[in-house]
Amino acid sequence: MATISSTEHTRRDFLYIATGAMGAVGAVAALVPLIAQMNPDASTIAAGAPIEVDLTPIAEGQVIKVFWRGKPIFINHRTKKQIEEAVNVNLASLPDPQPDSARVKPKHANFQVLIGICTHLGCIPIAHQGPYNGYFCPCHGSVYDTSGRIRSGPAPTNLALPPYEFVSDTRIRIG
Ligand code: FES
Repeated sequence: MATISSTEHTRRDFLYIATGAMGAVGAVAALVPLIAQMNPDASTIAAGAPIEVDLTPIAEGQVIKVFWRGKPIFINHRTKKQIEEAVNVNLASLPDPQPDSARVKPKHANFQVLIGICTHLGCIPIAHQGPYNGYFCPCHGSVYDTSGRIRSGPAPTNLALPPYEFVSDTRIRIG
């Protein structure tokens, strides 16, 4: 099951992808049954099994949301401009200083993966919102950049990163 919202050209926000269909996303129809067989079943995923996500359907500039261990995971396919802006930040100006390079995998700075739970009181931020075109938490106004670093508002720390790795150039395993 996959739903897609917001297809604006200038602000493609979220693809909501249910974890059960993760392996099938972007696959050609003929491969779906095979890949589906390889996925852990729903109860196994709910119990915390790793999930794999195919990154190929995520257009540059898009953020998708998947679920791992019941947590929303945002995967942002960042543009070159977004990456440059995230890199060229005076770290001393950040409430929770952390270089962008510490928040992405080497050679994969175009994909930023984080846990979409505000570090203030746990609301789910909205992507492509706020002055940094990153994430905005509507509960009390915390603003995060495209690296998920807190830039203003009451949240004390950057958005957390899940354990994940690239299993190929176009696929990650979370967990
Ligand atoms: S929960 Fe996000 S700003 Fe308070």
